[in-house]
Amino acid sequence: MPSPLFDLTGKTALITGSTKGIGKAIALHLAQAGARVVISSRKADACAAVKQEFDALGLEAIAIPCNVARPDEVDALVAKTMATFGRIDILVCNAATNPVYGPTASASPEAFDKIIGTNVKSVWSLCNQVIPQMAARRDGAVILVSSIAGQKGNAVIGLYGVSKAADSALVRNLAVEWGPSNIRVNAIAPGLVRTDFAKALWEDDKLRRQREELTPLRRLGEPDDIAGLAVLLAGPGGAFITGQTFVADGGVTIA
Ligand SMILES: NC(=O)c1ccc[n+]([C@@H]2O[C@H](COP(=O)([O-])OP(=O)(O)OC[C@H]3O[C@@H](n4cnc5c(N)ncnc54)[C@H](OP(=O)(O)O)[C@@H]3O)[C@@H](O)[C@H]2O)c1
Repeated sequence: MPSPLFDLTGKTALITGSTKGIGKAIALHLAQAGARVVISSRKADACAAVKQEFDALGLEAIAIPCNVARPDEVDALVAKTMATFGRIDILVCNAATNPVYGPTASASPEAFDKIIGTNVKSVWSLCNQVIPQMAARRDGAVILVSSIAGQKGNAVIGLYGVSKAADSALVRNLAVEWGPSNIRVNAIAPGLVRTDFAKALWEDDKLRRQREELTPLRRLGEPDDIAGLAVLLAGPGGAFITGQTFVADGGVTIA
């Protein structure tokens, strides 16, 4: 019999950016642990396809397209989820963007606003809308997908790192504000994971090998490597954990 510490039966989980990569893996494993899940991303057809995959596996899922950079779509995402399930017990803010590479000074003000708007402001807005109904039940878990780029200076993806550091700061603050209502708020900071998002950093054989050499576990991450932490933080196993950012990076930041 599986441990009740990882049992999410009866819970509803909303995961942004869950049609591929890390978000999809998190949605899959939360659903396999018993949660009903909301699949969401900008593309309606991708959302519908993932819902069908989950249906075929006997997992309960609905699809609600949403671009987290658009406040009206974020509002509708929450409203439609509440109308369907009547509650959100687990919120995973996973969708993010990185439109620029290079020194922070070379980014345009528009790129700056896009990164902060998508990666931080939308997360703040989602949390503000979702957490109060959790607090009313005195139970809920919020998980932000941050990055190790938020923990170190970076010559290539600096502004993205700034946004991910802000997510970790938001986690600490929300944990303080909502802890008395038994809401747990944590972040996961992945290292380099083999997804489309990070293709530029791993597709080149030389770059990939260099990265593997610098990583104690001698490999890049896979989306499932991140999902286990999410299941822990979402359920009873994470009941006494809040305000933290957990690194899953094969050891690259400690080497
Ligand atoms: N991969 C890595 O190495 C790595 C490392 C550290 C942290 N992360 C973080 O992990 C998270 C997921 O990244 P990933 O690597 O899994 O990326 P991915 O494989 O490219 O998947 C991104 C998902 O988010 C959706 N999405 C993109 N922009 C969106 C938006 N504006 N609104 C709503 N959905 C959106 C995409 O679908 P649509 O295109 O249909 O919208 C897709 O479902 C991000 O927060 C990223 O910063 C990734």
